[in-house]
Amino acid sequence: MAVDLLLGLQWGDEGKGKIVDVLTSNYDIVARFQGGPNAGHTLEFDGIKHVLRTIPSGIFHEKSMNVIGNGVVIDPVVFVQELEGLDKFDIDYKSKLILSRKAHVILPTHRLLDAASEASKGKAKIGSTLKGIGPTYMDKTGRNGIRLGDLELNTWKDKYRALANKHEELIAFHNVDIQYNLPEMEAEFFKAVETLKELTFIDSEEYLQQAQKNGKSILAEGAQGSLLDIDFGTYPFVTSSNTTAAGACTGLGVAPNQIGEVFGIFKAYTTRVGSGPFPTELFDEVGAEMAKVGHEFGAVTGRARRCGWLDLVALKYTCQVNGVTQLMMMKGDVLSGFDKLKVCTAYKYKGEEITHLPYNIEPENVTPIYSEFDCWKEDLTKMREPSQFPKELNTYIDFLEKELEIPIKVVSVGPDRTQTIHR
Ligand code: IMP
Repeated sequence: MAVDLLLGLQWGDEGKGKIVDVLTSNYDIVARFQGGPNAGHTLEFDGIKHVLRTIPSGIFHEKSMNVIGNGVVIDPVVFVQELEGLDKFDIDYKSKLILSRKAHVILPTHRLLDAASEASKGKAKIGSTLKGIGPTYMDKTGRNGIRLGDLELNTWKDKYRALANKHEELIAFHNVDIQYNLPEMEAEFFKAVETLKELTFIDSEEYLQQAQKNGKSILAEGAQGSLLDIDFGTYPFVTSSNTTAAGACTGLGVAPNQIGEVFGIFKAYTTRVGSGPFPTELFDEVGAEMAKVGHEFGAVTGRARRCGWLDLVALKYTCQVNGVTQLMMMKGDVLSGFDKLKVCTAYKYKGEEITHLPYNIEPENVTPIYSEFDCWKEDLTKMREPSQFPKELNTYIDFLEKELEIPIKVVSVGPDRTQTIHR
């Protein structure tokens, strides 16, 4: 059996949580391969809203097994809070959730370092979620990190102490005003580690290889979006992992030739949280309307998301980097009733019109060139069949499919599971 991938194609928050939730009934295993509690996957069903951070969205499905791969970074404190959230729903996570021994642990001092590093950058700050993601991946590549497997050894606290001491020196080096009470944070952390250790740690690459041999279907669930990829995103305003398809191979131990379908999710418009270039960003009342109607506030930080028109130059680029085989368009319902719609099809760059993403997309380098469309006026949220779609929506979808040369198989018209239309 091949491993299918589900990836966000913009700057995150495309609605992956909802789609994984819809897709999981087709899969035996759902696996997360990168990122950490900087992600916030929102699911909504039976009128209840849930936000998951590190735990795969398959946890709400009775039969799915949920794997947290080696590419993920885990904050025991946040993780345990997430487990407590699941307790309310009587979910037997102890039998449905397994974690890679090779996943790295976010320490309290990683969070502090994240805050110190951001504060020292001043105006050049990344807009990090301050969950300690960057410093944890730095320790991973610096070969200093603590992995879940280490927590099974008696000596792990010695390693912890040495690393936390080093972090404190680094925090002081940043010379910014960060107030903290480390003993208090550590007490909470050590307690959470003990709870975490009650779960099953595995060698996830071996587990997934065996599962494939036994004919189990696997869905790898991405976090963040392709434009936040450490290599292919809008560096340095990116996250610290590979959010693109290749990240699923390194973050789970799946070989490239084992990848099957690549589902790419995008919003009918574009949003971004945090700093960094965003060529189609709107600063007028149209952008404000998108934010308001689309409830564009971060699931993790509560920050208002920046909004703008769909950027096909960027979307084509991320479809290519990921080898997307099927597209899913989210939040078309948000645009209902807008006067006109615009889609960026090219950039003006150094006096020329280009249709590829250049090295630098800062506003002083690129000016978007738009195609304009009539917008649909109908409320899409009650629609359940493509035959109900207004002609303006069909024109929009047909245009995007033609430009991207990939079919749009799913159109989502609201947050609920039932508001998902297959074409
Ligand atoms: P970090 O990964 O917390 O360091 O944040 C780096 C950048 O990625 C910031 O601009 C964040 O706003 C952005 N980011 C991180 N996680 C998410 C996410 O799940 N959705 C959208 N943006 C994210």
